[in-house]
Order: sequence, then C-alpha cells, then structure tokens
Amino acid sequence: MINVAIIGTGNIAPSHIEGYAAFKDRCKIAALVDIYPEKAQAIKEKYHLDADVYDSHEKLFERDDIHLISICTPPYTHAQISIDCMNHGLDVLCEKPMAASLAECDAMIDARDKTGQRLSIISQNRFRSPIMKLKNLLDQKVAGRVLHAQVDSVWWRGHSYYDLWWRGTWEKEGGGCTLNHAVHHIDMLNWMKGLPVEITAIVNNLNHDNAEVEDFSVAISKYEDGSMSTMMSSLVHHGEEQQFIFQCEQAKICAPWSVAAFKSRPNGFGEPYPEKQKEIEDYYRTLEDLEYEGHAGQIDNVIRSIENGHKNFLVQAEDGRRTLEYITAVYKSGFSSQKVCLPLEKDDPFYTVEGIQANVEKFYEKTGSVENFDPEFITTGNDYSKYNYDK
Ligand SMILES: NC(=O)c1ccc[n+]([C@@H]2O[C@H](COP(=O)([O-])OP(=O)(O)OC[C@H]3O[C@@H](n4cnc5c(N)ncnc54)[C@H](O)[C@@H]3O)[C@@H](O)[C@H]2O)c1
Repeated sequence: MINVAIIGTGNIAPSHIEGYAAFKDRCKIAALVDIYPEKAQAIKEKYHLDADVYDSHEKLFERDDIHLISICTPPYTHAQISIDCMNHGLDVLCEKPMAASLAECDAMIDARDKTGQRLSIISQNRFRSPIMKLKNLLDQKVAGRVLHAQVDSVWWRGHSYYDLWWRGTWEKEGGGCTLNHAVHHIDMLNWMKGLPVEITAIVNNLNHDNAEVEDFSVAISKYEDGSMSTMMSSLVHHGEEQQFIFQCEQAKICAPWSVAAFKSRPNGFGEPYPEKQKEIEDYYRTLEDLEYEGHAGQIDNVIRSIENGHKNFLVQAEDGRRTLEYITAVYKSGFSSQKVCLPLEKDDPFYTVEGIQANVEKFYEKTGSVENFDPEFITTGNDYSKYNYDK
C-alpha cells in the first residue's frame, strides 16, 4: 500500500483525491497539508479520509510511513517543497507548472538525481484517449510529415479570478495564461513534436486590468526539420474550444478527432481524397481508449512505477523543464520584441525568477486579494472527445 500526502488543499486537490480514490487497494491518502489547515480539515471530512492534517509540509518529515507526495500549492512554492520532500526520501508528483523558472527546474532535477527519488510533473491531459491516439498517429507518421501545428489553448476567466492572493503577480503566479493554462498544451505539443529551435511571440493583457501578468499570447515556432507551429494562449475565449490541428503532408489530423485529406488536381488546386481519409480513420479506430483518464490516468502511471520499482513513468521532470523552456522563450521574445533561439543558456537573463521579474512588464497593478475561493468549479482542460465517432 502506497501512503500519499497531499500538500495544498485548494482547487486542484480534489482531482488528486479522486484520482487516488480510483486505486483504493493500491494507495491511501494518509496526510493532508495546508497553510490553512481548516481547508485540509474540510476536505478530509468531505471525502471521508482517514488522514492526518498538518499546517506545514515539514511536519510530514516527522513520520516515516509516507511514500508519495502530491504538490498542489501555488507555482512559486513548487521547487522548495519538491526539493524538501525528495531530500527526505519521498517521491513527488508536482502540479504544473513545474516551477517558476528554469533555474528552479534545474535545482529540482539535481535533487532528484542526488536522492534517486521520482519526480513527475502533472500533465493530466496527455492521459486523454483522443490525445494518446493523436500522439500515436504522429509517431507512426500515418498522415506523413508534420508541416504545421496549430494549437489553441483557449480558456475563459473573469476578473475575479485574479483576486485570489497568489494569482496575477509575476512574483507568486510566475506568469499568466502562458505559464498556467497553456502549460498543458505546450507540454503536449513538445511531447508530440519536440522543442522548437526558434520562437517569436507576442504577449499581452487584453481584458484583465487587475493582473500584472498576460491573459493572451501567440507564439510562432520553427523546428529543426523546418516545420512550424502556432500556439495561442488565452483567457478571453468564450467556450474554451481547445484544439490541436496538425497539417501533415497527406492529411490534417486533429484533437478533438477529425481528419481531412486533399490531393492535387492537375492545375494544383485541391480536391478531397476520400481513400486517404478512410485509411486514416480506419487506423484511428484500431486504437484503444484509455482505462483511466486525466489525473487518475497519470496517478495510475506513477504508482505503477513505484509498485514495479522502475522510473519509466510518462511525464518526467525533463518534460516539465522543457515546457518551462518554451514558456520562458515566449516571455523573452514577447518582452524583448525579438526572435529567441533555443536552448536557453544558464546565463540568460530569463533563466532565474529574479531575471524574469526584472525583464517583464507589469501590465496592470493587482488590485483585489482574497484568501480563498470556494473550489466548487474549475476547468482543467477539454476531454477532446467531442467529435469521436466511437462514442
Ligand atoms: N492540472 C490542472 O488542470 C490544474 C488546475 C488548477 C490548478 N492547477 C495548479 O495547481 C496548483 C494550485 O492551484 P489551485 O488552483 O489549487 O490553488 P488554490 O489556491 O485553490 O490551492 C492552493 C492551496 O495551497 C495552499 N498553500 C499555499 N502555500 C502553501 C504551502 N507553502 N504549504 C502548504 N499549502 C500551501 C493554499 O492555502 C491553498 O489551499 C497551481 O500550481 C496550479 O497551477 C492545476
């Protein structure tokens, strides 16, 4: 039985609790930690957990029966809490974003290597059937070489979203929608396509005049093989219609799932190519749905690696770092109005939290600051099954 502690019992904690609850015979939530312990207590009662409540993660180190930590605290705390836990012999499943800077990511990776603990970063939307199937199609080059990827990481958040005490500042949230929302899609894009070699971005705040950080960015990237991607990150999109569209040599393949294929007429204009489209649809239909999706899927993947004594879980710390590298390049390009080449070096001004803070623009002053919101409703990404004809 794997004993788990959850640190931070706000909005996202229930996704972890429900994820672990899917595997009651394999793991148990033994402790809950929050600087507002009454929140941890309320969650303990709501989910009828047999767990101890603490007001600091250091109290966990007084006991020796905890194996795995879920870190569900604000981004600026991820690095220190992860490092402390690994130094005390605990495996870590850390919420996205991995940290607030590449320097912090590297310190976390160093601690992992020094201690030999596991460090996985949440990217629960990889664990969606249409996303896994799209990744398979790309790996198998079923539609040929990728020419362009269009990714819409579009969300909608009202003004009051930025009233929560840690949101909306470069210091505590670490960034806006690129770091905290598009992080999901950036991880998935990097996983599907690798890191680009060049990024040019525009970063802006269109409709949240109570936040220092951006609520909109567009990044245009070029890859080593000459292909390109465009990534839109937004908090002003009604309907939150998130999608991946891969334009490949032979067809367009997407999540939510759709496929279209054109071929050339003698004069170069396109016409539908139904045989190719059917061939790709037929391949897609052979792929199995996942047994567990979202947080439960990633939790299953991580606890399976603990049970089997290996470290081959899907989302490694290097993936979290790669995502941060892309995001850091978006900020560097956006705030310097320049094209940015990757990789970013350790002497880059944007490598550290201090460097980022010194080089970004505060779009607006943060105005409100409430201690807590009712975590009744949050959105954590599409399930991408909208157009799946198998369902
Ligand atoms: N995977 C997803 O889809 C998803 C969705 C929402 C949030 N998140 C991430 O989860 C993290 C938390 O976000 P949230 O929306 O749940 O925030 P939240 O404010 O609702 O919850 C965070 C909790 O952590 C507690 N906390 C803060 N500092 C702490 C510390 N040092 N030690 C212990 N507890 C501490 C706070 O009191 C709060 O209860 C962020 O990194 C966020 O980006 C992920």
